[in-house]
This record gives sequence, structure tokens and C-alpha cells, in this order.
Amino acid sequence: MTGPGTATRRGGRRFLHYGDLTDGSRLVTLLSSIRPDEVYHLGAQSHVRVSFDEPEFTGDTTGLGTTRLLEAIRLVGLQCRFYQASSSEMFGATPPPQDEATPFHPRSPYGAAKVYSYWITRNYREAYGMFAVNGILFNHESPRRGETFVTRKITRSVARIRAGLDDTVFLGNIDAVRDWGYAPEYVEAMWRMLQADEPRDYVVATGTAHTVRDFLGFAFAHAGLDWERHVRFDRRYIRPAEVDALVGDASLARDILGWAARTLPPELARIMVDADCAALDAAATTPTGDRPVAPAPVPRLGTPA
Ligand code: GDD
Repeated sequence: MTGPGTATRRGGRRFLHYGDLTDGSRLVTLLSSIRPDEVYHLGAQSHVRVSFDEPEFTGDTTGLGTTRLLEAIRLVGLQCRFYQASSSEMFGATPPPQDEATPFHPRSPYGAAKVYSYWITRNYREAYGMFAVNGILFNHESPRRGETFVTRKITRSVARIRAGLDDTVFLGNIDAVRDWGYAPEYVEAMWRMLQADEPRDYVVATGTAHTVRDFLGFAFAHAGLDWERHVRFDRRYIRPAEVDALVGDASLARDILGWAARTLPPELARIMVDADCAALDAAATTPTGDRPVAPAPVPRLGTPA
């Protein structure tokens, strides 16, 4: 989604408002009517591979969209606090461990656009005294993750293979190293950044390094499957420039915000596989007019000791 995804609560109900990061005047009218205390700017074209196909659109939304939102806040005269979803992709080719002082070397149009947004956020903080912060989040996953990102692609495939609906999943570079954490915990870190006394930028990460190959092992093993029997290479998933290794050092968030990751990749994989299996089972038992019929539900997986 490239819009601001604006949600407000009134009387216990949540309202979704229409808007788009490419439409600056709409951001002004939205913010002037909602008058939020806190703005969490998570909108972007956020798929790294797609950003190579759509570099201009990615720059417009993921980069300039941040300026439009900050400028709308300034024009409306809001005293709100502002969170910018910066990304570990900004570090790109700079080797791990990466922290707040690590130089940026983005390796994609997406990463370059995020670097722009990082600096424009700092610029509004320095130029206008805004409480504007960058959360530099490493990969954060959950059962709600989009199906084209590698973790969810894997866990969804595990569920489908286990149910007999698929046999093979096609992937690109499975030697890439990432620091995968659990998204709900990362949202708490975002919130803590906006409750802090001073605005500053933080890395949010688990500090653990795993390859895509490792994640395949965690996910398939949880379903009693051997990943090597089901995974095939497809060069379409190779990126023109790859980010080989991202591993964050979140010491500052621990020391200042009192935040630390609790869920590590092996457990994360189990949570996501269980959720995808449960979703498939539920779909199989829910009668609908146009949904293909899946095989009978299989027993829920337990968490191995
Ligand atoms: N998506 C995808 N699909 N990635 C694959 C595949 C595949 O079939 N096969 C291998 N990979 C590798 C990619 O090349 C990359 O090295 C790694 O798996 C992770 O890819 P993604 O899950 O697409 O995530 P990402 O690391 O590129 O970016 C995500 O995390 C960033 C940091 O938080 C995105 O969510 C970004 O928006 C986010 O900023």
C-alpha cells in the first residue's frame, strides 16, 4: 500500500480514511481534519525486487512521499510526533553488524528511496524542531506478512505442501543472511520511540544471523518435511544487486527504550507455519461458492520440545 493507511479511533471504533502519498494536498486535508498526536509513517512501495522494475514509482512513494507527509504536518501546524519507517536495506552492502552509526550503502531503488526518507526526517527534526524519528527496522515478520516476501512465501508453501496442494516452491538466493524478528514486538519498539523524552534514531533487530536456507530448515522441519525435496531455484527471483548480509545491533534501543527482541527466527518460523496451516484448514472447512476445495483438514502442529 502506498497511501498513509490512516486509522483513527472514535468511541472505540476505528476509521480508515482514503489518501495517497503521491497526493500532497490530500495529506494536508486529512491531517487538518484528524489532527493526530502521533503519526506512524509506514506507507511505501516496500518490495525490494519490485523496486528494480518500478524505480520511479518507488522513489515517488517511498522517498518523496515522506517529504509530502512531513510538509503536510508542517503546513497544518501540528505538534504531533512523527515516526519514519526506515529500513535495514539502507545499509545494503556495508557489512554487519549494523547500528545507528553504520554508513549507508543501499543496493536497490527501494534502499536509495529509504535513505532519502531517513535524511529528510532528520532534516525536519533539525530545521523545524519536529519530534521526528527514524526506526531502522530489520526484517520483521508475522503471519500477516505479504505472501511475496521470502519468509511468508516459505511458510505458506510448507502449509500447502503438507496439505497436498503443492509440491514445489521456487526461490532465488537462499544464501542471503537476514536478521528476522517478530513484527508485533517491533511495533512496540516504534511506539516506545515516540514516548521517549528526546527524538532520536534507533536500530531495531534481534542481533541473530540466519540464511534463507536456515529459515527453510526451521519451517519445513516443523511440518515434518525435508526442504531439499521441495525447493527449486528460479533465476527470476535473483535481484540485479543483492544485499548479502544484514544483522543489527539494537543496543541503543535496549539502553534507552528498554526494548529487546524476544522471538528469534526458529520460533518465528513455527508461529508462521502454524498460522498458515490453520488458515488452510479453516479455508477447507468454510463453504464458499468460488473457492477451490482443499483436502480434508490435517491435525494441528504442536511445538516441538
Ligand atoms: N521475496 C523473495 N522471494 N526473496 C527471496 C526469494 C524469493 O523467492 N528467494 C530468495 N530471496 C531472498 C532475497 O533475495 C533477499 O536476500 C531475502 O530473501 C529476503 O527477501 P525479502 O523477504 O523480499 O525481504 P528484503 O530483505 O528484501 O526486504 C524486506 O525487509 C526490509 C527490512 O526490514 C522488506 O520488507 C523491506 O520493505 C524492508 O525494508
